[in-house]
Amino acid sequence: MAQTEFTFFNPTKLVFCPDYLESLRCHVGARDYGIVTYSDAFFSDAVDQIQGVLGKAVFVATDITPNPDFSYFNALEGERRRDLAKAEALVALGGGSVIDTAKVFAAGLEDRPDIRDLLNFASQSQALRSKDIIAIPTTAGTGSEVTSWATIWDSESGRKFSLSHPDLYPKVAVLDPSLTYKLPPRITLASGLDALSHALESVWNINANPISSNYAVRASRIIIETLPSLMNNPENARLRQMMLQAAVFSGLAFSNTKTALAHNISYPVSLNHNLEHGIACSFTLPLVMRRAIGSDTVCDETLREIFGNDLHNGADQLEEFLCNLEISTDPDDYGIPATTFKKYLNDALTGERGRNFIAA
Ligand SMILES: NC(=O)c1ccc[n+]([C@@H]2O[C@H](COP(=O)([O-])OP(=O)(O)OC[C@H]3O[C@@H](n4cnc5c(N)ncnc54)[C@H](O)[C@@H]3O)[C@@H](O)[C@H]2O)c1
Ligand SMILES: [Fe+2]
Repeated sequence: MAQTEFTFFNPTKLVFCPDYLESLRCHVGARDYGIVTYSDAFFSDAVDQIQGVLGKAVFVATDITPNPDFSYFNALEGERRRDLAKAEALVALGGGSVIDTAKVFAAGLEDRPDIRDLLNFASQSQALRSKDIIAIPTTAGTGSEVTSWATIWDSESGRKFSLSHPDLYPKVAVLDPSLTYKLPPRITLASGLDALSHALESVWNINANPISSNYAVRASRIIIETLPSLMNNPENARLRQMMLQAAVFSGLAFSNTKTALAHNISYPVSLNHNLEHGIACSFTLPLVMRRAIGSDTVCDETLREIFGNDLHNGADQLEEFLCNLEISTDPDDYGIPATTFKKYLNDALTGERGRNFIAA
């Protein structure tokens, strides 16, 4: 039966434009601001261009590497923390790792030498946010530009944490597809599959609602149609634009539902088997879909909008789609023995995200 009572909320302003610098001028204005990005040449040039347009930043972090870790935040020196405190807004130019790092910076890291204190504080506080985030994604995948949480990793203890607070939604997401034109093939693939995973995980989810599912269906269809063509035509501007839009649709969908079983399985896989997030959370999608089928009529109806009437055939199609992208669905191919994978699956079913799975 159709759901009659639900809420959908997302406060991030979305600006699709061909010139992110021009948009920044309007959204940062004359405020003291910081920049968070990676160190590669492309991004160093961008830092110069941003400062050329907005004036000198009070805080610049160009040392962001994939999967932000506790050790990075705890090592931030006193002087850097004082500079961070001066920033009223943060420009986050990069993929999920950069935008998630900016969320930690925005949440008041300068006042808390140990990141664990910030996580505790955020989980208990009504109001948190002191800095606006202007997120400019350079991958088409994570949707972090429209979510209110950041994934932080503690490689020392082998655990994944979530900094989550309603004040952490970016104020603005500036979506300029040209930033993704030179995205290397493996990152294009991994981030695109992450977006597909967000869309599907928001469908087989106890928190799904008609609006989140609407975004999820649109996103899934675009990604399934576009990603294989894009892998063969990486310079195609229209395909890049489609993927960026699809990643935002997926982000909007799971911003209201959070993820589910495939993501919960991905955490030990990423930590223990060194697999990038987008692959770790997508190679189990056919398995998770087969478990979801038949557990909820609304979920089945939504899946039919993506995969057609025969859902078991749809799961086979999904497996074939991954296989054509050279993504194996066999844990063994990632060095995960069957017994270990079974443990990951069982643990995930009762994990924080796994409990969102409609057939958990
Ligand atoms: N907060 C959320 O809602 C959310 C959702 C999903 C994933 N995540 C997190 O996001 C992270 C993954 O983010 P990601 O997949 O966007 O990748 P990433 O930010 O980890 O970056 C991966 C690599 O891509 C490179 N790169 C990024 N953009 C580029 C470009 N335009 N051109 C060339 N190289 C580029 C970076 O230098 C980096 O080496 C993980 O830590 C994951 O847990 C967060
Ligand atoms: Fe993800």
